[in-house]
Amino acid sequence: KRKAIRVMITGAAGQIGYALAPQVATGAMFGSDQPIILHLLDVEPAKNALEGLRMELVDGAYPLLQGVFTFTDVAAASKDVDVAVMVGGYPRKAGEERKDVMSKNVSIYKSQASALAENASKDVKVVVVANPANTNALILAENAPSIPRENITCLTRLDHNRALGQISERTTTHVSAVKNVIIWGNHSSTQYPDVNHGSVVGKPIRSVVSDDAWLNGEFITTVQQRGAAIIKARGLSSALSAANAVCNHVRDWVRGTPAGTWVSMGVVSDGSYGVQPGLVYSYPVVCSGGKWRVVQGLPIDDASKERMRTTEAELVEERDLALQCLAEKSGAAQ
Ligand code: NAI
Repeated sequence: KRKAIRVMITGAAGQIGYALAPQVATGAMFGSDQPIILHLLDVEPAKNALEGLRMELVDGAYPLLQGVFTFTDVAAASKDVDVAVMVGGYPRKAGEERKDVMSKNVSIYKSQASALAENASKDVKVVVVANPANTNALILAENAPSIPRENITCLTRLDHNRALGQISERTTTHVSAVKNVIIWGNHSSTQYPDVNHGSVVGKPIRSVVSDDAWLNGEFITTVQQRGAAIIKARGLSSALSAANAVCNHVRDWVRGTPAGTWVSMGVVSDGSYGVQPGLVYSYPVVCSGGKWRVVQGLPIDDASKERMRTTEAELVEERDLALQCLAEKSGAAQ
């Protein structure tokens, strides 16, 4: 019998947690033959909501679920976890400055980094979902030196899936026949959804769509702004699609990407495609044996280079702001 995989979800009492926990319990992350133990973490004020989620998971009578534990302490929650899905964070409220929100979030990721490093399984795989996702992941990586760099990622798979969905609708082709789009850079509105290397039923996306004005314009802005469009429509930010993307991200990372297919993941840059090393930047990756590798050598045209640099510049600015916030905090504490 297989050993259960321990999956921690932080911010589990929130919207994404409510969609994600049952998807993991039904096998969307590791398949229908892999037992799971869930570690659900949230803050003290969310304790009752968290307990409600635990009760509903028990009531789901999921065959794969071998245990559900709730925590308000990150060190206890991190104990022996194999996968950590970091959804917990502080949302931006009306009238708040970007810097204040950044400061609150990167402080959370700094303190959770050490708890994870000290308590999680040695080869824990981490995916940061909470925004600013790339920068939270960078802060986590810098403050958890004992966790291998390549084990710390952020979620851009939702953006990737959104791009697949747009091409599928536009070409009236099932989404499974659309492949190898790329999300470059930040999980924000500066991201660059790139179709230049992708295909629809094996033919280049550009030739099948046959409308470069749309591909270079509305397609890109639709994918970049999709999160805001969902908020406008639902009054709440995307949750089920985010949860689905988390399962896709971890599943492909652990079980491998299908032959001839790549996916987008935010990973610690090694300088590939001229991006500053150390930034958490979304790249096309292929996975096998539980490891990802950036797809190398794709020809990049000038317009794409420009867009890739724009989103990189935003990540540099976010990193500098995050480091400044942390320095001010530690200064204030002394
Ligand atoms: P939510 O507000 O419903 O849930 C967040 C939860 O985090 C809350 O229950 C809150 O109590 C908890 N939390 C706050 N501080 C915490 C801490 N220190 N430790 C543990 N838990 C903590 O938000 P929702 O809709 O679930 O979204 C979560 C995050 O994911 C947001 O930052 C959102 O912007 C981001 N997001 C990212 C996406 C991506 O593609 N990367 C897509 C959609 C959302």
